[in-house]
This record gives sequence, C-alpha cells and structure tokens, in this order.
Amino acid sequence: MITAEEVIKSLPGLLKEHPELRLKIYDTLSEEFVRRGEFYEFMKKSDERFEKLLQELREFREDTNFSRREMKKIMIPMAKPVIGNEELQAVAEVLKSGMLAQGKVVAEFETAFAKYVGVKNAVAVSNGTVALDITLKSLGIKEGDEVIVPSFSFISTANAVLFQGAKPVFADVDERTFNINPEDLLEKISNRTKAIIGVHLFGHPFDVKEIQDICEDYNIYLIEDCAQAHGAEYEHNKVGGFGVAGCFSFYATKNMTTGEGGMITTDSEKIAEVCRLLRSHGESQKYYHTMLGYNYRMTDVLAAMGVAQLKRLDISNEKRIRNAEYLNQHINLSGLKLPDRKKGVKHVYHQYAVIIENGFPMSRREKFMQYLREKGIGCAIHYPLPIHKQPLYQRMGYTDENARCPVATALSDKILSLPVHQALTEKDLMYIVEILNNIK
Ligand SMILES: Cc1ncc(COP(=O)(O)O)c(C=O)c1O
Repeated sequence: MITAEEVIKSLPGLLKEHPELRLKIYDTLSEEFVRRGEFYEFMKKSDERFEKLLQELREFREDTNFSRREMKKIMIPMAKPVIGNEELQAVAEVLKSGMLAQGKVVAEFETAFAKYVGVKNAVAVSNGTVALDITLKSLGIKEGDEVIVPSFSFISTANAVLFQGAKPVFADVDERTFNINPEDLLEKISNRTKAIIGVHLFGHPFDVKEIQDICEDYNIYLIEDCAQAHGAEYEHNKVGGFGVAGCFSFYATKNMTTGEGGMITTDSEKIAEVCRLLRSHGESQKYYHTMLGYNYRMTDVLAAMGVAQLKRLDISNEKRIRNAEYLNQHINLSGLKLPDRKKGVKHVYHQYAVIIENGFPMSRREKFMQYLREKGIGCAIHYPLPIHKQPLYQRMGYTDENARCPVATALSDKILSLPVHQALTEKDLMYIVEILNNIK
C-alpha cells in the first residue's frame, strides 16, 4: 500500500505530467487518506511546497464544484473579447491625437490585414454587412440578377443581395460542416446567376476548390463571407483570398473585434477602388463626388483596436482550437454529435456547434439549454431558422418547397453552440465536460 509519505514525494511529478487529472487526484487522495485515518498525519508531514500544492488543488476543487459555482452564479459566457494593454494604449493614443475619423490608422490596419490574408488590397468599413453590400455593388449586381447563398447563415449574407434589388437563391448545406453544399449549389444555378457568396461558417472553410471550379465553369463571381473565419485556412492559405473578394466582420463576438467593423479583402484593384469610393460618398477628391456612395467608414479609434487585435489573432485562434480539441476529446454524452473538421482545413472555431441526435437523454433542446444555463454554462442556437424560413423571407414568398434546403431546415432544429472562446479557462473547460458527461 502506498503511504502518505510516498504520495508527497511523487505528487508534484504526477501533477506536472497529468495536469488534467488534478481534480481526480485531489478527490482520490482526500478520500483515501480520510478513510485510512491518515489525512491529518499526511497534512502534518507536508512540507511547505506540498502545502501550497494541496491548497492549489483545494481551490481548484472548490472552483469546479458544481454547487459553489451555482451559488456564486458564475456564468461561462458564449463570447468574451480579450482586450489587453495594447488595445487600450493604441486607442488612447488615437484619442489623444485628436484625429478620430478615418485616417492613417485605418490605412495601417488595412495594410496589416491585407498582408495577413495574403491579398493586395484591404478596405476597412463600418461593419461586415456593408462589406458584403458594397462588394456586390462593386461587381454591378442588380435587379434581375440571382446570387446563390447558403440558407444556413447569419441573415446578412442574404440581405446584402436584397440590398441590390437582386434575388437570393438558397443552397443547402453539408450535414458535416454546415457549409454550402457544392452539389446542391450546382442545381441552383440558372442563367441569371451572377455570383455565389460562400460562408466559412463557424470558422470552418467551405469547399473552396469545388466552388472555385463551379464559378469558373459558369463564369460566376465567388465572394467569401469570412465574418466568422478570421485566420481560417484552406490548404494552408488564409480565407479571404480565394474569391474575387472576402468580407470580414469585427463585431464584438468575433475571433477578433473592433466592437463593430468590417473589411473587404481583394486582389482586384478595380473592386478595391470602387469599394473605397462607395464607402465614402463616392468622393474621389475632397468634395468631388463621382458616384453615389455612402458613409460606411471605419474610425481611426476602432482601427487602432483592430491593429492590436490582429496581432493577437493567431494566439486566440490557437486557444480556440485547443479548447475545441479538449471538448472533442472529453465530452462523452450519448446522442450528442461533436463538431467535425474536414482534412486540409484550419478550423478556427468561431462557434463550437453540437448536434442533438436520437438517443440524447433530454427530450427537448430547450430543456437542455435551460439545464446548461442553470449550471452556469452559456449556450446559443446558431441559427434557430434557416434564412429562407425567416419571416422576412417567408413574406417574400420563399417556402421549404421552393427553397429546397432540407438539411439547413433540419439543422436549425437540432444544433446548439457551446462556449469555445479564447477566454475560457482550464477550469471552465473541465466544468463544461463534467456537467455534460453527468447528464443522464
Ligand atoms: C456569416 C456572417 N455574415 C455577415 C455578418 C455581418 O457582419 P456585421 O455584424 O459586422 O454586420 C455576420 C455577423 O454576425 C456573419 O456572422
């Protein structure tokens, strides 16, 4: 039988090798030594270093303790931006400079972002929706044209088509990745189709090669909606450089943020030039307006934040990936399908979306969500309706029959996002796993 003394000697090494076993080790040790009446003796013998270790274990136990967490009403949020000193300093500098509107810091952000994505141009705008809007305008999409978009996305993807007076045609998605399905997309092409907006949903790149080929065969523009996929890669190249343009969002919950903000990435000088004009009243020189444009500009204040956020993007994404891997390895709950990843892609886990399947112990998704929230685990449905079923689109005459997107429709009823963001702690992850694995 192992003595308390032997345990004291071996514990630091064991914990170093298996930090994920901390909880288990603490529980087993306490139980075992209390049972053998050795706990007191064990504590007495502990040297200072070991005391510290034990204290750490105890705090760890307390923090992950279900009822304590519930008592303290600690909630693990679905998203939490990481804002550090770099952001604070950069924003403060702009504020102190007195030059707040679009200026040299926006230009700096654009240069850095274009370099990061690997394209010639980047145009910063006020949000991701207007990035899509003016990209479509720069391509001359207009009334009478059709643009194919996945039905399973945030509504902006389709609304940007409506802004042009054009018709969104919905393609169904792949059950595995939730991304636009190239086969279904082919079926939806007509002689009015001018463009396809592919969405790298939840941070998983869509089937770039297949869709590029289709676009080439049919002479259609490919636009990438990268709002959820900053830093994601397809065959080692960053998303945002595969289509005629990529459109990013820097909304507060995204993998990198400026609170609100957007960016268009493109190798085309023409698209970049027109988007720059459209972003700022069609102004080619000071008070000289050559086309009808908007005020879709980003401020230097937010661009300063963007420059700092871009620097931490890779680290944040690595953390998201590690979090997702941890959840994938440890969650073991029947009827819960965990996220998949296709070969050759870097998935940056904007969302960690699970599917509730047959055999899941709880009768309804709402009950599951309520349970998670009671336990202090945030969760959300992305998306409760496919776009073609949104009231706005139903009123326009879209139905399940004419949209023909059964996978998107079925997914909306059984998908659920769990926290995966970069600010999750090891304790948060262990807690999520324990709560899920204990559902009967
Ligand atoms: C897929 C997708 N497209 C477009 C957008 C629009 O971006 P924004 O909210 O910055 O307008 C979002 C934002 O949530 C999105 O998730």
